[in-house]
Amino acid sequence: MEKTIAVLKGDGIGPEVIDEGLKVLNAISRKYNHTFHINECLIGAHAIFETGVTLPAETLRACKSSDAVYLGAIGHPSFDNDPSKKIRPEQGLLAIRKELELYANIRPLKIYKNLHHLSPLKEKFLLNVDFTIYRELTGGIYFGDKIKEADSASDVCHYEKYEIKRIAKLAFEEAQRRDKKLCLIDKANVLETSRLWRRTVQEMSSSYEEVEISYLFIDNAAMQMILNPSQFDVILTSNMFGDIISDEASVLGGSLGLLPSGSYGNRYRMYEPVHGSYPQAKGKNIANPLAAILSLEMMLRDFNLIEEADEIVQSVEKSIEENILTRDLNPDNNFSTSDIGDYIIECINSNVNQCTVLN
Ligand code: IPM
Ligand code: MN
Repeated sequence: MEKTIAVLKGDGIGPEVIDEGLKVLNAISRKYNHTFHINECLIGAHAIFETGVTLPAETLRACKSSDAVYLGAIGHPSFDNDPSKKIRPEQGLLAIRKELELYANIRPLKIYKNLHHLSPLKEKFLLNVDFTIYRELTGGIYFGDKIKEADSASDVCHYEKYEIKRIAKLAFEEAQRRDKKLCLIDKANVLETSRLWRRTVQEMSSSYEEVEISYLFIDNAAMQMILNPSQFDVILTSNMFGDIISDEASVLGGSLGLLPSGSYGNRYRMYEPVHGSYPQAKGKNIANPLAAILSLEMMLRDFNLIEEADEIVQSVEKSIEENILTRDLNPDNNFSTSDIGDYIIECINSNVNQCTVLN
């Protein structure tokens, strides 16, 4: 197979974790004889410092002419506490989502048995937790009209029915493939947009009769996520609620550093770890690369490279079983970001079952 991948390493720990993903990609391409052309481009704070803009036109062009985009993280502390800054790194991320029309952000959550002790929840709540979040990514309050005046400001939350339908369709289809349960999370007791979501999902439900639909208000959902997370199968929600609930969901398994994501539109695809740029860890070789490696795995699966993707999953599972982990997952370990990548490629090169333990 031959594919072109636009690689946007971004800020903070982005370059370090993506480098491990690329090491894994390299191992896969050698083993299975694939050719991946890597097109590295700037985005985020990094791009602002070098070019003055957060999403250079050249980056966008490269993304549009690639088969997939592989992104690290975006954000820089010098912007976070200064609301007066006109250009912000995050604008680059929002712009690329919008420009590529990546309307569905999919965040699958998996809990690893060996990491139960790291969860803020008791083990009994973690059994059978396995769900995926379908977050709308190009609409809602993130992209509505914004007004800034001296002493007032507003952010409009707007949804068109077609925007709801296209992601709801993907979520219904995923529910059909999984346990046939779909939960719409909204705030329909207060928000007009949420009532539009409910109406739209209800109208569509007759085409997916075997899917059982439930509805939760976001406040209740935030509580259910810690009281009884195993009730969820496919979660469907708007941009803002999805942002919040997916961070909450991500720590159930013990670390934000494990969660991959894929963002999909009708033409383009982008893969990125759910975690942020974690500037405190930048350059220290301590960041957990597993979310980035698992995001690469999602990409390969979508390229229909099933055996390759399965092998990455098995290698990641093996590294968790063998306790080859960065310090967010095991504070007693001294394994670095690149040690984890090395271990995963050793698993791939030696066929997962035979890979040896690093010391
Ligand atoms: C995410 C991030 C982004 C978001 C930020 C960095 C703009 O939190 O991908 O979840 O809010 O969507
Ligand atoms: Mn977020």
